[in-house]
This record gives sequence, structure tokens and C-alpha cells, in this order.
Amino acid sequence: MMNVKPIPAEHLPELLRGMPKAELHMHIEGSLEPELIFALAQRNGVAIPYASVEELRRAYAFTNLQSFLDIYYAGASVLLTEQDFHDMAWAYLQRAAADHVLRAEMFFDPQTHTARGVAMATVVDGLHRACQDAKAKLGVDAALILCFLRHLSEEDAFETLEQALPYRDKLIGVGLDSSEVGHPPEKFARVFARCRELGLHIVAHAGEEGPPAYVWAALDVLKAERIDHGVQSTRDPALMRRLAQDRIPLTVCPLSNLKLCVFPDLAQHNLGVLLDAGLVATVNSDDPAYFGGYVNENFVQTFAATGLTAQQAWQLADNSFAASFAPAADKQAWRERVRAYFEGF
Ligand code: ADE
Ligand code: ZN
Repeated sequence: MMNVKPIPAEHLPELLRGMPKAELHMHIEGSLEPELIFALAQRNGVAIPYASVEELRRAYAFTNLQSFLDIYYAGASVLLTEQDFHDMAWAYLQRAAADHVLRAEMFFDPQTHTARGVAMATVVDGLHRACQDAKAKLGVDAALILCFLRHLSEEDAFETLEQALPYRDKLIGVGLDSSEVGHPPEKFARVFARCRELGLHIVAHAGEEGPPAYVWAALDVLKAERIDHGVQSTRDPALMRRLAQDRIPLTVCPLSNLKLCVFPDLAQHNLGVLLDAGLVATVNSDDPAYFGGYVNENFVQTFAATGLTAQQAWQLADNSFAASFAPAADKQAWRERVRAYFEGF
């Protein structure tokens, strides 16, 4: 990467909003806006324990990961039909396109739905149809990553994998999410070994609230190719060297970390520390409907709070495509588009 000419701080938001980017860490169920939750609840005759959109939004005052997950799983209970899953993903992909996202790798949590009697086919077919529409109508390249819920058993994860096998071609990888502390990666060693045999890409949430030991286990036991969050890694210098040497991307979600009280304020976020250590860090929205912003909002607010530079913006955009699971030729073409954007700004 060349040096970018210095850009006045007042032009940074415009630079960040318009730059081509990939989003690699977002849970599609976390893109359900309160308005859509209410619309789907009505369409499906599902009761939700909130009287209005405003009351639901007021409940979004989280103190940690679990306090968020309780509301997030309740929100997802309005999803029943293939059309529901399509509409949710389509709404997100339109917002992603507006944020100049060229590639979106979306997580979904099938166990949240199959446990309520929704078929795997309903979930995957609806999400996949939205991905096809995004390519055709928005020019956004979208892909799906199936996440196992780590608060459930490995046996449940195996059963979920079995149910997903007919849809193997519609998935690029598998991940691990939900309540982190008390559910270390080792709990899922065998199911991830099976996923690797199937040729699926491997990612895992680690080091969001959990200790560096969970990041080590995600790498060494699950063979994760990317770490989701990973912000606790700065507590372990040997782990930082490993992540840098092996160029393991971290999909960082600053507004999520702020809303779940991982950092007391954005100014204290360690994204700059990760970049300065040479790590392949990226910026992502996690659960944008719950955490106060889509990916561009994450970029703009984090840069304003921490003083990151235009050079670091280019690094983050370049990292996002380098870290994606798209074909090498696509990644190269996108990285050239990023270069052209920064050279022409
Ligand atoms: N599921 C949705 N968002 C999550 C997060 N930030 N951490 C773990 N599991 C999640
Ligand atoms: Zn996440």
C-alpha cells in the first residue's frame, strides 16, 4: 500500500462512508430492526412482550453480552417463513449496499429457529434467495456462514450440521457464537473437525468477553481461519505475535463492544493498538439493529473517537477484502478498487 496524502479530519467521514469495503462479522438476526420485528410479529400472529417499537428500543440498554442475547433471541422468534428470512436479509443487504459494502459474509443461527420448529430449509432457502437478489439487483456479493450456539451441546451442533448437509453448497463456512464465558472452543473440537473435512471455512467468536486462552483454543483446536472480535488478545503478547505472524484476521465490532460494555467508551477501543501491532483487523457491525449502527457508522464513530487516520482507513478496507473467503481473483479486483478509490480521493 502506498502512503495516502493526509486528509483533513472534516473529510474523513466522507472518505469512510464512500470507501469500498467487505463486512465479515454480522449476524443476520441482529439486523432485525424493531419496526420489522413488529411487522413480522403481526404478519405471523406471534406475540412479543413489548407494546410498541419505542418500548422495544428502550429495552436495548445492555450491560454485557448475555443481557443482549436474551433480547436478541426473543426478537428472532418472529421469524417463521422462508419469506421472513428473505425479507430480513434483503433489508440488511440494501443497507450494506448503501454503505458501499461489496462483499458481505453473513452469520445465521439455525438452532434459534429449528428449536422453534422452523425447518433448516426455510432458513437457508430464504437467506440464500436474498443473497441471489443482492448479486443481481445491488451488485453485492453475499455469502452465508452457519454459526453453532456455544451455550448448547456439541451433540446439538452435530445434529444441526447433519440438518444443514443438504444445503452445503449454500454455505461458505461455520462459526461459533452466543454466550462465550464458560463455553470454551474445546467443547466443539469434534464438530469443527468434521466441518473441516467437509471443506467449510472455519471462524469462531473468541476474546470478546472471554480470555486470551479462548483465542488460542479457537486457533489451535478449532483451526479457526479468522477470529471474531478477538479484542482481549492485547492482554497476551505471545498471542499478539501469533496473530500477526500467521496473519489471522480479527473481525472487530467497535459499536458492539461499546454497547456490551467491553470498553467504557469508544476512545478507549483498542482497534488502533491491533493495527499498530500489524494485525489484520477489520471493522464490522455485529448486530447493527441493536448496537446503534451499520458498518459505516462503526467506521465514522470509531475514527472520530480514536483519531485513526486515512492511511488506517485504507488498511482496514484492504484488510476486509484480504480476510474474506471470496475467490482470490475477486479479492484482488476489490483490493485494486480500494487502491483506486484512495488514490483518487
Ligand atoms: N450473537 C449475536 N451477536 C453476538 C455476539 N456479539 N457475541 C456472541 N454471540 C452473538
Ligand atoms: Zn458476533
